Amino acid sequence: MTKAAIMGYGTVGSGVAEVLAGNPEKIAWSARQGVELKYILDVRDFPESPFADKIIHDFAVIESDPEVSVVAECIGGATIAYEYVRRCLEAHKSVATSNKELIAEKGLELLGIARDNGVSLMFEGAVGGGIPIIRTLTQYFSGNKINEVFGILNATTNYILTQMNECGLEFGEVLKDAQRRGYAEADPTADVDGIDACRKICILADLSFSRNISPAWVKTTGVRSMTPADTAFAEEMGCAIKLLGRSLRRGDKVTAYVAPHLIPRGKVLYDVNGVMNAVVVNAEGIGDCIFTGAGAGKLPTASAVVADMADAVRHAYEEKRAIWESADESVFFDSDELVSRWYVRSSAAPVEMQRAFDGAVYTAGGECAVLTQPMDARQLAETAGRIPLLSAFRVLD
Ligand code: HSE
Repeated sequence: MTKAAIMGYGTVGSGVAEVLAGNPEKIAWSARQGVELKYILDVRDFPESPFADKIIHDFAVIESDPEVSVVAECIGGATIAYEYVRRCLEAHKSVATSNKELIAEKGLELLGIARDNGVSLMFEGAVGGGIPIIRTLTQYFSGNKINEVFGILNATTNYILTQMNECGLEFGEVLKDAQRRGYAEADPTADVDGIDACRKICILADLSFSRNISPAWVKTTGVRSMTPADTAFAEEMGCAIKLLGRSLRRGDKVTAYVAPHLIPRGKVLYDVNGVMNAVVVNAEGIGDCIFTGAGAGKLPTASAVVADMADAVRHAYEEKRAIWESADESVFFDSDELVSRWYVRSSAAPVEMQRAFDGAVYTAGGECAVLTQPMDARQLAETAGRIPLLSAFRVLD
């Protein structure tokens, strides 16, 4: 029997306590020994919680307890969480986390500290909630070069875009609804501005291409400026709009970006709606593999964290962990160079749009939209010339 601790008793932390208590035999079988929750670290007290007797307020209690071999980090952010995770690893305790900010920003350094101390840092829950994509990338694609990885990586924005599409509602209205339902945070910036998806595509790129891709290099556009006109035009064109994180390799170089895309009907991602996420991996010799499931939520994410805790305990002497190398910006190329068709919306006259873009022009409410020929971002700007573009999104063909 080994002892575990949870740091942070919010949505995911309370879910980890629940999953640990709910499936002790299965977890003991997976870990090859029992895993008993000893401490929950939080600044607050939770007198009503069934785990009230485990609450502590002093991190040093976990750090200095030799019985605790594995810790779930559920604090969030990359400040206190970073310090506590580093100190746990230095105290020879494995850590499981779903904290994508921490892994995207500090993963390389923390994985090195884990290695130096003979323990594991695991983060299956950091991307795609309950979708088992981290283990899949580190283990099942180890014999094949990955060409591209992309997907719907943020549940909140996928819920918002699905509602806008199905109900023709304004972005602001749907965001309030998402906040009422508890999908979107009170401060939804990281979700709606694409920052959360940026962190997640960086982690997928790190694992896929074995290089540390910095979030600072990644061009990131969110969904804040999306209008019902965009979703209506997209539907008329036989497409749905989805926020994608995408990373791909060209020779030895890699790019990554986050932006809304038009997904044509018939593509798998077209039907991934609401809080579902999906990740597509394209590898040499394999082609496309598609993974889909609940992208957020207490129990899907907590389940991934607990599976990592069990795995870390089971492999305590094998230092089971993901690896990638440090890299500078010379490994990265600008995603604007990628060629695709584009959806563009404008208040220009239909005839002007037709002349510039040479495609079928859709009109509604004094605006028009067109699907362009394949081109890169610079060619798009040149082709548009003085036509004011209200929206310009790539099409995922
Ligand atoms: N805010 C995140 C999302 C939570 O909406 O996807 C899961 O990472």
